[in-house]
Amino acid sequence: MKLVQKIISLCKRRGFIFPSSEIYGGFGGVYDFGPLGFELKKNIKEAWLKAMRKEENIVPLDAAILMAPAVWQASGHLSAGFADELIECKSCHKRFKKEELKEEKCPECGGEVTEPRKFNLMMKTFVGPVENETTTAYLRAETCQGIYVNFLNIMNSMRLKIPFGVIQIGKAFRNEINPKNFIFRTREFEQMEMEWFCHPKEANKFFDYWTTQRIKWYYDLGIKKENLRIREVPKEERAHYARRQIDIEYRFPFGWKEIEGIHNRGDWDLRTHSKHSGEDLRYFDQDTKEKYFPFIIETSVGVERCLFAFLSDAYQEIEGGRTKTTKATKEIEILLKLHKSLAPIKVAVLPLVRNKSELVKKAKEIYKLLKLYFSCDYDETGSIGRRYRRQDEIGTVFCLTIDFESLKQNDLTIRDRDTMAQERVKIENLVEILKEKLKVE
Ligand code: GAP
Repeated sequence: MKLVQKIISLCKRRGFIFPSSEIYGGFGGVYDFGPLGFELKKNIKEAWLKAMRKEENIVPLDAAILMAPAVWQASGHLSAGFADELIECKSCHKRFKKEELKEEKCPECGGEVTEPRKFNLMMKTFVGPVENETTTAYLRAETCQGIYVNFLNIMNSMRLKIPFGVIQIGKAFRNEINPKNFIFRTREFEQMEMEWFCHPKEANKFFDYWTTQRIKWYYDLGIKKENLRIREVPKEERAHYARRQIDIEYRFPFGWKEIEGIHNRGDWDLRTHSKHSGEDLRYFDQDTKEKYFPFIIETSVGVERCLFAFLSDAYQEIEGGRTKTTKATKEIEILLKLHKSLAPIKVAVLPLVRNKSELVKKAKEIYKLLKLYFSCDYDETGSIGRRYRRQDEIGTVFCLTIDFESLKQNDLTIRDRDTMAQERVKIENLVEILKEKLKVE
């Protein structure tokens, strides 16, 4: 089985990701995040927020998904700039983006293909009871437009001075022609965007600064250096608003692909929204008396793409297993070596056996206590070795085993996911010990 198939299978089997509306045959390019996927996504978003909040002059925003259609007219998303070129096979009717075809025939069946035609990616809906052109609205295709149209609101209400940044996490929608590679390209996804407003003369400096910060974020969360690279995007490939664009690329099982874009959007957004709305969105510098459109440096990453990269990077298979003393030596063991701050479950509580009520009672008490502090799992089914492997497969950082000794000594063993080292600790010190072990600077 190919690596990507193995990851998809793990995600389904262990409650990370399910195809949307699966009992009705699925719904193309849309996925649901199960209990563990929810936790992992939440942890990624929290890690991003934490890193952003460490910076100076950054404020958050939570703008609506629906916006006045005029916003998308002004931003250029309703015109050719935000369209893919669609090519269809005349025989099997499969559809492709123009850049996906290396030659002028269908990659699936070899059939003749149509001429490319422009296909806008904005998702349409209607607002109000009547469905016509005047009630047509769009689901946002990028979260940042909510930031630009609130530029004055945010700056004035928070008394901000240039340079400053606005961060936002939220859903975005694109009517992708060909969603593919699992959650890599979907029609509904979440973005984490940071828009940095600065003086035009400082734009290059901040572009470099944010590029460094964003790369560091991936490294700090354990992404292997050899699996990350940056690509300077040439002019002809850049988004319509970008003066300069760098893609942070990850080496996915299906090749190098963008996970995050860093853009110098210049004054495109504030200038165009000024022109179309009639509001003056220039910044007035009280000290220099200069009035200008700030430049925007943007960092933009999809939560799901990022999650896919973290999963791919953490996934390991150990042929014959890590424990040489048990039957597992004949099996392939899966280990999900996620960074401790990302792991969906931090601690699993395991009574050594389930047919001794005192052990189960004690284990359940500990589970109840730890749930107040950490995301926890409780598991009493199967041999202890099998339970360790079940936890390793979902990246649980520590397994706690309560054995007969625990009843006498009021202690338990903590097993480390990565080293499998076991340590006995007193239960009265447990919460503090785990807090210390799970601490992230
Ligand atoms: N505001 C800038 C912007 O939206 P983008 O390069 O179009 O730029 C930024 O998108 C990031 O959003 C991408 O690097 C990717 O992580 C994510 N993204 C974009 N389209 C996506 C899709 N169809 N499915 C999943 N993630 C997507």
